[in-house]
Order: sequence, then structure tokens, then C-alpha cells
Amino acid sequence: MAKFLVQKSGPLNGEVTISGAKNAVLPIMAATLLTEEKCEIRDVPALRDVEVMCRLLESLGATVNEDLGRNKVEISAAGSISHEAPFDLVKMMRASILVLGALLLRTGRAVIHLPGGCAIGKRPVELHLKGLKALGAVIDEEKLQRGIIDASADKLRGATIYLDFPSVGATEVIIMAAALAEGTTVLENAAQEPEIVDLANFLNKMGARIKGAGTDTIKVDGVTSLRGVSHNVIPDRIEAGTFMVGAAMTKGNVLIKNVVPDHLKAVIAKLKECGVDITMDDDGVRVRGDVNELTATDIKTLPYPGFPTDMQSPFMALLTVAKGPSRVIETVFENRFMHVGEFNRMGANIKISGNCSMIPGGKALKGAQVVATDLRAGAAVVLTGLVADGITEVSQIYHVDRGYERFVEKLRALGANIMRVED
Ligand code: UD1
Repeated sequence: MAKFLVQKSGPLNGEVTISGAKNAVLPIMAATLLTEEKCEIRDVPALRDVEVMCRLLESLGATVNEDLGRNKVEISAAGSISHEAPFDLVKMMRASILVLGALLLRTGRAVIHLPGGCAIGKRPVELHLKGLKALGAVIDEEKLQRGIIDASADKLRGATIYLDFPSVGATEVIIMAAALAEGTTVLENAAQEPEIVDLANFLNKMGARIKGAGTDTIKVDGVTSLRGVSHNVIPDRIEAGTFMVGAAMTKGNVLIKNVVPDHLKAVIAKLKECGVDITMDDDGVRVRGDVNELTATDIKTLPYPGFPTDMQSPFMALLTVAKGPSRVIETVFENRFMHVGEFNRMGANIKISGNCSMIPGGKALKGAQVVATDLRAGAAVVLTGLVADGITEVSQIYHVDRGYERFVEKLRALGANIMRVED
């Protein structure tokens, strides 16, 4: 199993170019199944999740030509496609659920075996299914109890759908299905993330008629067919935010290129509250942690445009070294504090009470053997390793490979002392 060895480093300095957004490219790749014509996607990050999506689309019958070295993928889903997503791929990536609407529209049926345990049941797909049912799909409830989504529909018809929570995945599945449904769909309390806007832009280029993406009400007028198009994926705001935190907590000076500052308003506001100096220019966003002392702040994760849950653990890394106590409240996911134990192994002394973490801050951290408990937490412990005395050994780094393109190379180019070792 591969590991990262991270050593205390000086300030991160220089420039870093952000890759295309993982969470934008995955739904866009799923949406290519909605047409028989070829689609070309550019600025595709070379990530494990993207490779899994390529294999999933192939297993469904699409022809996939990927050139991830050049950040490009061509997908052609001409001819017949299968209605069943293989379990061995679905279990590797929750985002496999994104093909649900396209399979229903193309084949009249969609069968997806979800991974077991708490992933089945009502959560976390009842909102996706609620939307598809409103559009006319029939779900086999008995199979659902066994963790198998088996949906069928001769035809989908537009409907008004209210999401109880602005789920990103449910919003994506529903707008894909509504794009080719008969009549008009109105999705209320929709997710407003920039990745939803990118998907809607992609679908609209294909010929869909979607309005309001990026607000809480999305209106989709169904069309009868969609065409193949070329599309450039938006920059990854979470990767950008991670490097911003890295620059700040190492007291560095980094120019972040290929970033949309508007997508990072909450993160930038919170970094400024901590004393980080942030300026925008035509080339990107300059982040300086060497101007002021880092001070504490409180954060609360929320659906977009609130503070992103995916930035919670990297930001907590910064708060462990900022002066004074901070609080982090997680409201999007129920159990997203697994990384706290890893920070504490390094001396952070964080206490958890329900969905709130109390961080004393200002701690002199020590390198330790830690685990990447999830994708973003993996990046967070790496950043912590850069400011901790001694060596930090990070295992289970396959999580990081899922979502950060050339993470080690990009950090090393900024002066970080990190290497990847294969056991
Ligand atoms: C997406 C992102 C992920 C990010 C998350 C929240 C992708 C591929 N992944 O995940 O990186 O952390 O948005 O910003 O884009 N929920 C339900 N019922 C449902 C659906 C969701 O209860 O039917 C709950 C989930 O359990 C979770 C919350 O809603 O607590 C947010 O989930 P959702 O917005 O659906 O996230 P994903 O689309 O899975």
C-alpha cells in the first residue's frame, strides 16, 4: 500500500494551477449517455474516480477514449446500452448513482446495486428516487430493501419536485432525467453548487432547455433529443481551497491559477477572518500567510453558497495552528469528524461534542503515523504534516488519489517536503 511521507517544510511559495473539478466532470460524463452522438470533455482531471467512471460507462456499452495525460475524454454512447451498472464498479464510487436518469431514459430501466450497510435504506438516495418517481418511474420497493435500485419507466413526464434537502446528486440526477422528459419540470430547493451550473451548461449545449441552475429553483423544459458537444470542465474549487489553506498555514505566498474566486467566497471570507492576505488579479488569486499572524475563527458547513463540507477538514488543519480557540460545526454530513482523531495523534487536542468540534488552536504539532480517513481528510493531514515537527506518515492514500490530481508533484513544486512511497 502506498504512503505519503511528509516532513516539516518551510513556507509554500510559487504558483499552482488548479485542475478541472472532479465533482463537475463525473455528472457530465454520466450525462454523455443521454445522446448517441460523441461528446468531448476537456480539462478532465486525471483521477481514480474519473477512471472508474470511464470503466462504468464502458461497461454500460459506451465507447470511451480517454487521454488523461492530456486531460481529455471522448465518449460515444451510440447503439444499445445496458440498463445495469455492475456492482464491482458502483461499490468503488458512490457517484456511480449519477447514471440513474440516463439509463432510465435510454433503456426504460435502471438497475444499480448499492453498496451495503447504512448506504442502502432511505438514505442517501431517497431524494434521487423521490424525484424519479415524480417523473413517472416505478421503483421496486422490495429490491430497494435489499440495496438494489430497480427503476423502470416507459416514459418520463415533467413534474414539480421539492427536495427536502438540496442534495447535489439528487439535483443532478433529476435535471438529467427531466432534460428528456415530456413537458416541464420545476425542481424546488435544488442544490446551487457551481458543479450543478456546469452540468446544466453542458446539457444546454447539447440542446436541453434548463433555466435557473445556480439558484434554488431549476426549470427544465423537456426536449426530444440531445446532441454531442465539446465542453471544458470548470476548475476544482475544493482543490483550490486546499492549496489556499496550505499557503496560509505554512506562512507562504502562493498564486493560485485557474480558479473562479466567486466559487470560493465562503472559504476566502473565512481565510481573511483568520488574517490571511488574499488578493485577486488577472492571473489568479494570491494567498499570503506571511503578512499577519493566523488567528482563530468559527466555521459552519452548509450547502452552497455556504462553507463547503469538503473544505471542513483542510480548514480544521489550519485552525489547529491558528492562535486561539475555534469551533467547527458540520451540518451537511452526519459523521464527518473522523479526521479529528488523526489531528489529535499529532497533538491538536480537539474535542468533539455532537456535530461540533472545539479546536484549542496554537498547538505545536508533532509528526505521527496517521490515516487518510477520507479524500479531503487525506489532504488535510498532509497539510498538517507540513507544519508538524518530524515526519508524518500518511496511509490509505488511495482516498487522496480519488480527488487530487498530481497532489505530491504540485506540493513539491511549491517547496513542500513530501514523497510518495510504495510499500
Ligand atoms: C456531493 C459531492 C461531495 C460533497 C457533497 C456535499 C460529488 C460527486 N460529490 O456528494 O464531494 O461532499 O456533494 O457538498 O459531487 N442525503 C440524503 N438523502 C438523499 C441524498 C442526500 O439524506 O437522497 C444527504 C446525505 O446523506 C448528506 C447530504 O444529504 O448528508 C448531502 O448529500 P449530497 O448533497 O447528495 O452529496 P453527494 O451528491 O453525495
